[in-house]
Amino acid sequence: MAAPCAVEQALPQFLVTGAAGFIGRSIAAALLKRGHSVRGIDNFIAGKPANLTGLEEMEFLEGDLRIPEDCARACSGVEIVFHEAALASVPRSVAAPAETNENCVNATLNLLVAARDAQVRRVIYAGSSSVYGDAPALPKHEEMLPNPISPYAVAKLAGEHYVRAFTRVYGLETVVLRYFNVFGPYQDPTSQYSGVLAIFCRRMLAGQQPTIYGDGEQSRDFTFIENVVHGNLLAAAAPAEKVSGQMMNLATGKSISLNETFAILRELTGYKGEPQYAPARAGDIRDSLADIRRAEALLGYRPQVDFREGLRRTVEWYRMSGLA
Ligand code: UD1
Repeated sequence: MAAPCAVEQALPQFLVTGAAGFIGRSIAAALLKRGHSVRGIDNFIAGKPANLTGLEEMEFLEGDLRIPEDCARACSGVEIVFHEAALASVPRSVAAPAETNENCVNATLNLLVAARDAQVRRVIYAGSSSVYGDAPALPKHEEMLPNPISPYAVAKLAGEHYVRAFTRVYGLETVVLRYFNVFGPYQDPTSQYSGVLAIFCRRMLAGQQPTIYGDGEQSRDFTFIENVVHGNLLAAAAPAEKVSGQMMNLATGKSISLNETFAILRELTGYKGEPQYAPARAGDIRDSLADIRRAEALLGYRPQVDFREGLRRTVEWYRMSGLA
């Protein structure tokens, strides 16, 4: 009986989808650091092979969640799934809505079916603040009716509903974490669809002028990656009675305008110029700020790193990584 037992022990406890992406690789790294066994899957549409550096202990599958068989391979033997894979961009979804739907909605449904069939215990889903849309009421709290205004937001919301339906219908434990503008080391700064802070860090470190779309008074609850990783680890460990089937914001509960952010980045990077202003982007929302009391109550979550310190570490990382 020794052999089957050895095989069981070899199976990873955790699956991270989108493991070669910014958030996925950060969660995988934290799990490995804590001595857990981890499998990762990525199709390299948005993820980068270079992001797997440092994750050599992870079992990695190059695979695509749009393919049910790949989902089955990924879920086999796993206890908990962190579902981070997505095409995480509002403008990309405006340019190619069907592509976003396939990689966010179809992929999530395939993954859930595979998780159910493999008797995965819990799926933690990367939700998005974009589902709140541009209703003026702030802060955004979970009781508000979603009002998605971009194809990306629709896709992330559809994924949420599938996730919660799988709890109701099949008893799969699930937790939805709605991320607010995550930033930090490993976020890709090179794509036109990159998050604003990654783009600004790269350009300003290289002495290049950044572009602010709109008047720069739009504000965001920018959340440093370590806070998001922390929230995910809490969501994995929390008792099912408390969190399963629940949806909650994961953010800092503070917001800052793009103009103010630019001023801080000027200090941190040494950039001397002014930003260029251009027309506001289609599908953009004006202000975003999270009420984080639900995550505090259900997970015991508190932000670990504040915005300025997160930005300082991020700038240092881009400086050292050679990406700037
Ligand atoms: C949105 C979602 C977020 C999601 C993310 C994926 C909201 C509040 N948030 O972020 O949940 O995960 O998409 O991409 O809806 N900008 C510039 N110059 C640039 C780039 C961007 O001024 O070079 C501006 C944008 O026009 C926007 C702001 O910066 O007003 C933030 O943009 P971005 O980083 O792309 O994120 P959101 O669209 O807010």
